[in-house]
Amino acid sequence: MKRNIHDFYFKEAKRLGYIARSAFKLQEIQQRHRVVQKGGSVLDLGCSPGAWLQIACRALGPRGGNVLGLDLKPTPLPIRHCDHRVHTIQQDATELDFYDFSKLHPPLFTTVLSDMCPDTSGSARLDVSASLELAQTALGIAVGDVNGTVDEAFEQGGQRKGVLRQGGNFVVKILEGSGSREFGELCKGTFTKVVWMRPKATREESREVYLIGLRLRKQVVP
Ligand SMILES: C[S@@+](CC[C@H](N)C(=O)[O-])C[C@H]1O[C@@H](n2cnc3c(N)ncnc32)[C@H](O)[C@@H]1O
Repeated sequence: MKRNIHDFYFKEAKRLGYIARSAFKLQEIQQRHRVVQKGGSVLDLGCSPGAWLQIACRALGPRGGNVLGLDLKPTPLPIRHCDHRVHTIQQDATELDFYDFSKLHPPLFTTVLSDMCPDTSGSARLDVSASLELAQTALGIAVGDVNGTVDEAFEQGGQRKGVLRQGGNFVVKILEGSGSREFGELCKGTFTKVVWMRPKATREESREVYLIGLRLRKQVVP
């Protein structure tokens, strides 16, 4: 039965022209929470092989907006469901900061997505901890350094040192385990609403869950 469900998503992805079954995860998140807005500007961290690029591009609607995908691997644009509004770069997200982004892309995003995951090590504990680090990297890129104080998350004059626009949405994958609850708490002070979601297309044996932060607050709540 489990195998049938997974075969279903695999076959559906093929039938509909999606490059990977992961398309259905973002599709479900989008259907429930409208994380990408029509004409919005989307940053997709860990975008390879490109299924989220396809869903994000479609969610922009017929006109306007853009999607920037970033991955350690080169990511050619999928032939279907992506158009001229989508671009990708090969880049390690952990080596980027706000100032690099200001050079890469003008100037802020309305949605930051991260489906980044580490190579599995065989140790659940190490995998959970590596995934948490990537989630923190994504959060740092989106909203500035939230581990620390308000001062660290904001430039002098009150501007955030993150690439997510005020009111913007954030989606991040995390492997459930030690530290994930605290990560959720950290996000609660940063977004107006925080929900956890495990999309139906997730493999049953997987520990992955998605944290969805809706509407970035103006101020960090201490
Ligand atoms: C599950 S895949 C993403 C699938 C993608 N969302 C899709 O639907 O096609 C995870 C990706 O995260 C990328 N990744 C892992 N660590 C990264 C890092 N430090 N910087 C950028 N990408 C990273 C991996 O190379 C891998 O392609």
